[in-house]
Amino acid sequence: MKIVHAASEMFPYVKTGGLADVCGSLFKSLAGVGHEVSFFLPGYRKIIESKEFESAKLKVVLQVELGEQFLRGEVWAISLGKRQTLYIIRRDEYFDRSNLYGTRERDYDDNDARFIYFSKAVVQAMRLLDIKADILHCHDWQTGLLPLFLRMAEQETGMTLALKTFFSIHNLAFQGLYPRSSFKLTNLPEEFNAIDGLEFYEQISMIKGGIFFADKIMTVSPNYAREILTPRFGCGLEGALKVREEDLVGIANGIDTEVWNPRKDPYLLNHYGANDLSGKALCQEALLNKVGLKKGEGPVYGLVARLTEQKGVDLLLKRMNFFVKNDCRIVLLGKGDPTYEKALRRWAKSHPEHVAVCIVLDEEMSHLVEAGSDYFIMPSVFEPCGLNQMYSQRYGTLPLVSGVGGLKDTVVDIVSDPKEGTGIVFEPNEEAYAQALEDSLSLYNDQKAFLHAIKRAMKRDFSWKRVTAEYEALYQDCV
Ligand code: ADP
Ligand code: GLC
Repeated sequence: MKIVHAASEMFPYVKTGGLADVCGSLFKSLAGVGHEVSFFLPGYRKIIESKEFESAKLKVVLQVELGEQFLRGEVWAISLGKRQTLYIIRRDEYFDRSNLYGTRERDYDDNDARFIYFSKAVVQAMRLLDIKADILHCHDWQTGLLPLFLRMAEQETGMTLALKTFFSIHNLAFQGLYPRSSFKLTNLPEEFNAIDGLEFYEQISMIKGGIFFADKIMTVSPNYAREILTPRFGCGLEGALKVREEDLVGIANGIDTEVWNPRKDPYLLNHYGANDLSGKALCQEALLNKVGLKKGEGPVYGLVARLTEQKGVDLLLKRMNFFVKNDCRIVLLGKGDPTYEKALRRWAKSHPEHVAVCIVLDEEMSHLVEAGSDYFIMPSVFEPCGLNQMYSQRYGTLPLVSGVGGLKDTVVDIVSDPKEGTGIVFEPNEEAYAQALEDSLSLYNDQKAFLHAIKRAMKRDFSWKRVTAEYEALYQDCV
């Protein structure tokens, strides 16, 4: 099949979170099973300045209508292998900036224009380059309007650019909401500026475009696909999603098992597998050394996350004392909300023997934390899929996760299922979290059961191979 993806991030080129990991893996795995895959990305500074861009070729010049203006743009192509192309939409005024979406203080003021422009540019590029796809697959609000723009262009030109459009929701909490006045940038007929179009509580919603106008809507775990139909997780869009329920599918993400492989991970000084964990003990020593901690009586806990409300930092902060009281160690790697950063720094300062905090985005460090911890904590309030709980299991680090979204789909709770369990799953409230921490101590003290759980976790298959087969079946089913 000929498959085109469009998104605002893709690992290893540009990443702020799991979206990038998933797009990178999906691209690689679909290409790996023989499909012709193209990927469209905005030409951010990081890409233009990358080594890969040195081999890019200018393919075509665009004139994109945005409100009352026609704005120039360029499509550059980088060949990533046989029948694999990365297309970069270049318009430096919009994308040649130091960050993807905004500064630390605030989002860029023109994100509506930037991503409406990007979505329109992809459609025009497909037209001019004569890319006729079986599937056009868009991801998150930044490309929410793309399926609609594509259909409008098809109507205008009589050309078929894609047989079916897919829209993946990686996180419903990010919706691309803009003032009603932004609608004019879309150049869409006024009928779309209504409740059964893009309008959402007196604003326009880019994600709603994807939800209403893509042929198929996907999300990143079966449990999250069910959850978002309810008010608790639907972020106000549960009604719109209900309308499309029949076309809504959840497939749990996989992980890149080449990048995340404790037997070969280039970031680790010591490698290990399920049958010989001695390397893991050395990784733990190295991690503790690096962050200036010494091993205590209790286990070592790790956390790597964007420090936002979603990731359950409030819950985490409420029970930090547990680690101190039980002579445990906790290593936290994250960046985000300055209030959370400050609160965590304060813990590290007042309890330097137990708590280490690294407020940075650091790919290498995230591998060291995964390998060197005994437990990995993810107390998320909601979690469409989550990747770290899968990295953790592969690294023999038992995840402690709240039972929401994809966390529930990918971790087997050892308390309710001691024979099959690969982690601890708790309800996202303080009492249940506190109990989960206690349970993790008891398990750690029963070294035999603890080791069995580690081995089971490490043997689980989270590879994209299995996941890709599910995507392929779905694509095939549609065309
Ligand atoms: P989300 O996309 O909601 O942030 P995921 O669990 O899907 O959550 O993916 C997060 C990804 O970002 C993981 O690969 C994780 O290791 C990585 N990550 C998050 N924070 C950091 C950080 N401070 N340094 C390095 N990697 C990080
Ligand atoms: C989002 C979600 C996360 C998911 C990722 C990749 O950022 O918050 O749960 O794993 O997308 O799909």
